[in-house]
Amino acid sequence: MTSRAKDFDQYFTPPELAATLIQAVTVAHPIRVGDFAAGHGELLRAAENRWPATKCIALDIDPEVVLQLKTSHPTWRTRCCDFTDEAERTRAMLSRGRVLQMPVIVLNPPFSCRGGSSRRVPIAGQTTRCSPALAFIVDALKHLQSGGQLVAIVPHGVVQGEKDATARGLLRQYYGMEVVELFARSAFAKCTPRTAIIRLTAGLAPASVVVAESSQRPEANVLTASLLRGRQSNTLVLHSRKRNLLPFIHTTDLGQGLLHRTRKQIAPSDLPQAYGPAVLLPRVGKPTADKIVLFPAGAIAILSDCVFALECGSEQEAEQLQSLLISEWPKVEAAYGGTCARFISVEGLRKLLHGLGCYILPYGQRIQEFRVCAEPAEQMLSSVIV
Ligand SMILES: C[S@@+](CC[C@H](N)C(=O)[O-])C[C@H]1O[C@@H](n2cnc3c(N)ncnc32)[C@H](O)[C@@H]1O
Repeated sequence: MTSRAKDFDQYFTPPELAATLIQAVTVAHPIRVGDFAAGHGELLRAAENRWPATKCIALDIDPEVVLQLKTSHPTWRTRCCDFTDEAERTRAMLSRGRVLQMPVIVLNPPFSCRGGSSRRVPIAGQTTRCSPALAFIVDALKHLQSGGQLVAIVPHGVVQGEKDATARGLLRQYYGMEVVELFARSAFAKCTPRTAIIRLTAGLAPASVVVAESSQRPEANVLTASLLRGRQSNTLVLHSRKRNLLPFIHTTDLGQGLLHRTRKQIAPSDLPQAYGPAVLLPRVGKPTADKIVLFPAGAIAILSDCVFALECGSEQEAEQLQSLLISEWPKVEAAYGGTCARFISVEGLRKLLHGLGCYILPYGQRIQEFRVCAEPAEQMLSSVIV
């Protein structure tokens, strides 16, 4: 190993460990995955294997590594930057005037970082000292979007050492930090005798908000969905076979508990898209229980302005949600206003679903971008955290 590689802690992750790390993520179909100490890109390759449609964001301090990555993975967004430098980091993460936020971050952070054996970092408004590896993770959390997850391979000291005890406590409190796996001496690189995989989840409330307020998090057994209102008028739909068009779904396609697509209409793909797994139901029109239908996993469509999609994290949850709405049909039907032209508003539907015990993400947030841990973070804390 060259001295330059040593200076930068270039101990790359073996593919099997990278795959194990990615399996620790419980976010479904993240649209972006970031590695801010990307090296040769092993972690992002494992992420791409699991989520082929995801966009990879790779940063690294070493220009040589960055050049290699740009050549080997031209579709990734790769930048050279010292991630510990806030100004550089912000510049590298700028995209169309906005600083990118991630639904998933994967890391095997540098654990020495030239310039000291510890760094001061702010966590949820409190400043504390911690090891360079944990400090790198704390910097990365600034780019984790609400509901997103960060998984990292860390030296053992991060989960058990005295130096990181205070930071660990804060991360446990505000990000439900969990130890997912502990590896014995032989499992990983020679330079870090024992390592662990940790997982942090950003709450639906900002990290700076006190814990009491994060009680808005959904419980483990609550059905969670995101709500999408169709926007496309039925009259503007095309019937041609041109490229860049997607299936268009109108209320006439919903009936007898199934999606029919009898007219096989299509619409331009630059309009807001609905993703399966989801439950579709009419926003406008005569409401009947048989118009509550499943939209399968992997399906994409443009919705008519008469249709709602309730996007779910899994097909199983979509089926549960469909069954719930059908079994509670009298309440659902009563939530539609109007006499001749019956309709239900976004707020009306949200209220109805909350009343039925579902958790609907704030409008504009999509379930595909993140998924809250299946179990409340506190319960999942492993006993190895002291
Ligand atoms: C332990 S390696 C991990 C590489 C890769 N993620 C993997 O798992 O194989 C750490 C990487 O962080 C990069 N690095 C070190 N200090 C950095 C910094 N301040 N900012 C960004 N990258 C840094 C190194 O060049 C190296 O590629």
